[in-house]
Amino acid sequence: MNKIPNHVAIIMDGNGRWATERGMSRSAGHKEGAKTLEKLAIYAQDKGIKVLSVYAFSTDNFKRSKEEVDYLMNLFIVYFKEKFDRVIKKNVKVLFSGRKVNLRSDVIDAMEEVTNKTKDNTGCILNICFNYGGQEEIVDASLKLFKDLNSKKIKEEDINKETFSKYLYQDLPPIDLLIRTGKEQRLSNFMLYESSYAELYFPDTYFPDFKENCLDEALKYYENRDRRFGNIKKD
Ligand code: IPE
Ligand code: IPE
Ligand code: MG
Repeated sequence: MNKIPNHVAIIMDGNGRWATERGMSRSAGHKEGAKTLEKLAIYAQDKGIKVLSVYAFSTDNFKRSKEEVDYLMNLFIVYFKEKFDRVIKKNVKVLFSGRKVNLRSDVIDAMEEVTNKTKDNTGCILNICFNYGGQEEIVDASLKLFKDLNSKKIKEEDINKETFSKYLYQDLPPIDLLIRTGKEQRLSNFMLYESSYAELYFPDTYFPDFKENCLDEALKYYENRDRRFGNIKKD
């Protein structure tokens, strides 16, 4: 395989249905999903993918029951604090994108701990979108830009799509390949600015079952795409 995408993004959907179909609790599905993410992060690094962005918790997921939200928050703490050691040892650098407001302080602490622990790692960037919304990101970026305009840090004539992208949560390359598991074909407010020319891939798989071989399939799909970016095919 030679055409490896720089930036792969995954909407990790279907944990709940994966578990329900097996007569298990939704929580069991989230736990299994976390294990899958750990495997994929290591595999992405081995494959030479530069950035792996994953949708772990959306701003809208707070609409779920307190029980489910609490379970997810506790699971994330355990993962960020204890279970991510293998990922960290693999030289993966962990970043978080999203709003900190509304998050419990122990969740924020766990995020800061893993960000600090991996800040000098030079391998694959794992960008975990947590309490994240794509429209919220664009609004937050606009507010920062507005402040810089007001304080004359940036001039109106210097605003373009590239400079605007520096105001997003992270300064990352555009998404090349966007995967959504969970048998749905929608974006659910995920990385709207970053995915403008992403190739879209919708496997018929719930996230806990999206193992290394499934990522290989997605990479194969990507390899065969002809990306024109508005241009016409060159022979
Ligand atoms: C994705 O799986 C994980 C989160 C949103 C946190 P879901 O929990 O949405 O699982 P389904 O879609 O209900 O099966
Ligand atoms: C998207 O899945 C959010 C994450 C995977 C974290 P949802 O399950 O929340 O999305 P909808 O409700 O199906 O659009
Ligand atoms: Mg879902």
